Amino acid sequence: MGVLASKIIGVGSYVPPKVYKNTDIEEMMNTSNEWIVQRTGIEQRHWVDSKTSTSDLAVKASEEAISNAGLNKEDIDMIVFATLSPDFDFPGTGCFLQAKLGMSEIPCLDLRQQCSGFLYAMSVADKFISTGTNKNILVVGAEVHSKGLDQTPDGRNVAVLFGDGAGAIVMSASEVNDKKSEPCFIDASLHSDGKYAKELWIPAPGTGFDSSERMSQEMLDEKLHYPQMNGRTVFVHATKRMAESLGALLEKNNLTIDDVDVFLFHQANLRINSKVAEMMGIPEEKVFNTIQKYGNTTAATIPLGMHDAMKEGVLKPGMLVASAAFGAGFTWASALYRV
Ligand code: ACO
Repeated sequence: MGVLASKIIGVGSYVPPKVYKNTDIEEMMNTSNEWIVQRTGIEQRHWVDSKTSTSDLAVKASEEAISNAGLNKEDIDMIVFATLSPDFDFPGTGCFLQAKLGMSEIPCLDLRQQCSGFLYAMSVADKFISTGTNKNILVVGAEVHSKGLDQTPDGRNVAVLFGDGAGAIVMSASEVNDKKSEPCFIDASLHSDGKYAKELWIPAPGTGFDSSERMSQEMLDEKLHYPQMNGRTVFVHATKRMAESLGALLEKNNLTIDDVDVFLFHQANLRINSKVAEMMGIPEEKVFNTIQKYGNTTAATIPLGMHDAMKEGVLKPGMLVASAAFGAGFTWASALYRV
C-alpha cells in the first residue's frame, strides 16, 4: 500500500521578449556593466512593456505547464500563486489568472513570501494533495518588477537586480511506495523572521502610516513606494539561512549532498549561491544558475530555472533536486523533490 504524494507532471515558463543588457541601463541609472557583473553576476534582464501585467506573464507559463502535463484547464482544481508584484493590491493575482484562463470556480490562493514564495507555494500545494483534498494544482510564480522600480540613479542599488518573468508547474496526486526514490515532492522546510521586515520592503501605500491618506505627496517625494533594501544585511542572512535550512532538511531526510543531482537555488546574487555552495561543500557544476540572463525574478525564479534546466538537459526525469531560497520578510525555505 503506497502513500499519497504530489508529483510535478508539467512545467512552463515565460519571459517578456524585451531584453535590457547592463549596458542599456548604464546611463539611465548611473551604473556600469562592470559594477553589476562583479557584484551580482547579472548580465541582462527581461522587462515588460507598459501594457503587460504579472497575470499576463503567468497565463503563458501556466498554459505551457498544463499542456506539458497532458491535462486540460478543466482538470486543474486549485491555483496557488506566489508574487510580490500583484496586478492590483487586491484581489489576489491568482483570481485574475483564473479569469484569463477561463477556469471554473476553483480556489485561488495568493502567497506573499517574495523570493521564498515558490517554495512556500509548492509546500502548500503538496499539503492539499497529500491530504487527498486536491488532485491537480497549478503552482505559479510570476513577477513584473520593472513597473515598480525606481529606474533613476536614486534606485540603482535595487533596480539593476530585478527582472520580469513567470514560471508554473502542475503538481498532481500520485501514489508512491517510497517518497525518496520515486518522482514526487519529498519535503520542505519553511521559515521567517519578521524582525527584519524593514531590511527589504516597500513601505507605501499601506496602513502602517500614521495618516488618513492612502498615499501622500510626502510619501511620493520620499520615494516610499519603491523597494528599499539594506543589501549587505540581506546578503549575510541569505547565505547563512539558505545553507542552514537545506543542510537540516537533507539531514532530516537522511540524504547527503552526493544524493542530490541538481541544486536549484533562488537567484538573487551569483555570489550568494557560490558562497552557499562553498559553505555546504556542493560542487559548482551541480548548481544551476540563471541570474546571468534573467536577474532576480523573485517568485518566478525557481520554476524558470527548473524549466530551463529541463530544456537544457541538465535536469532529467528521476533526478533529485534540492532548492533553497531567501527573501524579504525575512523569509527563507528549502525543499527536496524528485522530478
Ligand atoms: N551601480 C553602481 N554603483 C552602485 C550601485 C549600482 N547599481 N548600487 C550601489 N552602488 C554603489 C554604492 O553607492 C556604494 O558606493 P560608495 O561605496 O561610494 O558608498 C557602493 O556601490 C557599494 O555599495 P554596497 O551596497 O555596499 O554594495 P554591495 O557590495 O553590498 O553590493 C548588492 C550590493 C549587490 C545589492 C549586495 O549587497 C546584494 O546582493 N545583497 C543581497 C541582495 C538580495 O539578496 N536581495 C534579496 C532578494 S530580493 C527579495 O526578496 C525581494
